[in-house]
This record gives sequence, structure tokens and C-alpha cells, in this order.
Amino acid sequence: MDHFALKDGVLHAENVPLPRIAEDVGTPVYVYSRATLERHARVFSESVAGAGKGEPLIAFAVKSNPNLAVLKVLQQQGFGADVVSGGELRRALAAGMAPEKIVFSGVGKTRAELQLGLTSRIGQFNIESLEEGRELAEVARGMGLTAQAALRINPDVDAGTHDKISTGKADNKFGIPLVRAREAFDELSALDGLNLRGVALHIGSQLLDLTPLETAFAKVGQLVADLRGAGHTITHVDLGGGLGVPYREGENPPSPAAYGEMVKRVTADWDVILTFEPGRVIAGNAGVLLTRVVRVKRGVRDPFVIVDAAMNDLARPALYGAYHGFSSVTPDGSQMTANIVGPICETGDTFAMGRDCDALSAGDLAVFRTAGAYGATMASSYNSRGFVAEVLVDGDRHAVVADRIDAGAIMDAERVPEWLE
Ligand code: LLP
Repeated sequence: MDHFALKDGVLHAENVPLPRIAEDVGTPVYVYSRATLERHARVFSESVAGAGKGEPLIAFAVKSNPNLAVLKVLQQQGFGADVVSGGELRRALAAGMAPEKIVFSGVGKTRAELQLGLTSRIGQFNIESLEEGRELAEVARGMGLTAQAALRINPDVDAGTHDKISTGKADNKFGIPLVRAREAFDELSALDGLNLRGVALHIGSQLLDLTPLETAFAKVGQLVADLRGAGHTITHVDLGGGLGVPYREGENPPSPAAYGEMVKRVTADWDVILTFEPGRVIAGNAGVLLTRVVRVKRGVRDPFVIVDAAMNDLARPALYGAYHGFSSVTPDGSQMTANIVGPICETGDTFAMGRDCDALSAGDLAVFRTAGAYGATMASSYNSRGFVAEVLVDGDRHAVVADRIDAGAIMDAERVPEWLE
């Protein structure tokens, strides 16, 4: 459920009419709803409450929406953060997230990033290779510290999602193959500077079925038992993120409640503290991309609705062929079939072909829905279009939470060397 709805024929974010935001901030602009973020956070928290030993840690996947105001809303809901770079780590800390609630994932953490995690006293490093584990131990020893760590394993499970966002198959770059986990544990747990205390996994994103998750979790349960049998102490398991959201009408992903029940059932006798890393399920439906129709151009078959948002602002359709709902901000009930495209000079800049949607003409406002996750964060400045602005709505007020960075500001950071003058 979200808080984007028609009131008196005008699409609102909570109590704010979207045309007001377009007037204030211009378009394209991402609009997030605080009430929706809070609701999703609450529903997820309630769904996993009681899973594992003590209270689980919910570490929001910052990559899905790293905006500081969004992180602040979630920090106030008791969330920590799953970060994958020094930049994300700095954001989580800046949003007031407790260091011990921060988990650092990613296959390519640099020495500087390992050091930053250590000096920040983060709660856990999810180590993705033997090589990384050795380096982390060495860096920590050099600083006179001990890194808290879990070993990310690759369970070789097909998550049944888009190939580019599957992470748990044997030939994906993530984690250590299950068969080598025992050997890695034996070596790494003997190192000073490292307290290897758990296991982590994440098999993919936008999962519409719980079965692959359950299969992967069961493998982790077996591994935990094997590791304990070999004398290792396992106190933590990080189950990653991945829960899908409905992008299309009729798409029916598993509910957080069903996910929570499955987790409780599978992990009942694990006796560990659990961590979750949800991203999309928290932020996806909490945001829309508000755009204005530049013009409608006649096509050979369907007309082209050319909007002022483009693939640089919302990359998912171009990258993954992803579907985003598209609707008018002031629908009058009439419909059209259209190709919805941005102004960028490549055919990849197409949001939808032959889409049945609200009738639109030049100057109208429209939204791409379910754009709160993996939206603004994946923006670029391709075609020198600048970076899109972001707004957070709270009841009947709204605030710009990320300025639009125009093409001029980006150009200001560039230099022509003297020897070219
Ligand atoms: N934890 C780890 C280690 C991850 O790699 C990810 C996402 C998550 C948690 C959060 O997964 P979620 O709950 O959001 O599914 N750009 C793509 C999605 C990439 C996801 C990468 N990893 C998209 O737009 O669909």
C-alpha cells in the first residue's frame, strides 16, 4: 500500500497535489512519501519480529535509495544500513545510523574502505572471499582492532529473477561457494584481527517467489550446523534482501508477513541473531518519478509521448527492460495506446512501447510509479541533462531533499588543460 492517490481528480503524494511540486521544483523530479516509507518499515519489522535470537537487525540496503532524508526516516524506525561503498557508509553515518547497525557488503571493498569501516566501528563486514578476509584481518591488526565479520556464501540457487540482478548462482561473482565455506572458516577464524562469527547470503533482487529463498536458507542452516560441528562459534546469520514488489497490476509478490513466517520456520533452531537487508520492498512503492509531457508526436502506428524524464533519470527500463506503471496526474478517464519515450538520443531511451495508458497531451504531468528504489540512485548525466531533483512529502508539506544539479554545475567540475588552449 502506498500514499499516492487521486483526490478530486488530481494525483497527490499524501496530501500534496503533485502539480504543486512540479510548479515549485520543476520536472523531472522524484517524489517520496514519508508515510509510505514508515508503513513499509513497520510492516517489515513486524513481519520478522521474533525471528532468530533476540531482535533481528534490519539493515536497509542503501543502494536502493541513498537519499539522506530517506535514510533519516528509516533510522527513526530503528533501521540500520547495508552499505557497499565508503560513500554509502558515510551516508548511513550522516543519517545518524548507529555504527553497530551497519553491515558492509560487496566484493570489491578497497583497503581504504576496510579502514573506514574499522575506524567507524561498524557492526559487521560481510566478507566475500578468502583474499578479502585475509586483508581485512591484516588491516584490523595494523590498527589494533578486531573486525566483526560474517562469510558471505554463494549457495548456487537460481533466484528466478532477471539475470542482471541474480547474485546467488555459482558463476556469479558474489560470495564463497558452499563447498569451500568450511575451509575458508577454518583459515579465517584462526586469524587475529578478525572475529568471524557468522554467515551471510543474498541471492538476488525482485524475487516473486519464496521458494529459492527457502532453498538457499536451508543450505545455510545445514552449513551453520556443519560449522558448529567442526568447532566454530556461529552467532549471526545475515539473510540479505530480495523481496519483490508489484510493478504491474496483478503482480503478486510474497508479502513480508509470508516471508517472515517462512524465515521463522526455516531458522527456528538456528539460535543466531538474524540480519535482513531489504531495499526495494521498503522504498520501491514509496516513490514516483514526476515528469511533464514535452510533446506528443505521431508515429507509424502508435503516437510517441515524449516526456521530460529520460533513461538517465530512471534507468531500469533501458537496463533491464523493466516495467513501470505510467499514469496521468490529472486523468480525465480517456485512454490512449502510446510509446512512452524520453528525449535522449538513443532508442534505449524508451520507457514503454504500445502501452495502454491515460490520454496525455503536451504540457500534462504524469508519473512513473514504483520508482522509489533503484531510481534516482542510478541516475546519470548522459546527454548533459544534469541530475534529477528529489522531494520528500510528509502530510501536507514537502521539501526538496536533493537539489537538481544542472548541466552547468557538472561542467564546472571539468577542466581543459592549458596545453589544449
Ligand atoms: N543486500 C545485498 C548484498 C544486495 O546486493 C542487495 C541488492 C540488497 C541487499 C537489496 O536487495 P532488494 O531487497 O532491494 O532486492 N538495480 C537493480 C537492483 C540491484 C540489486 C542489487 N543488490 C534494479 O533496479 O532492479
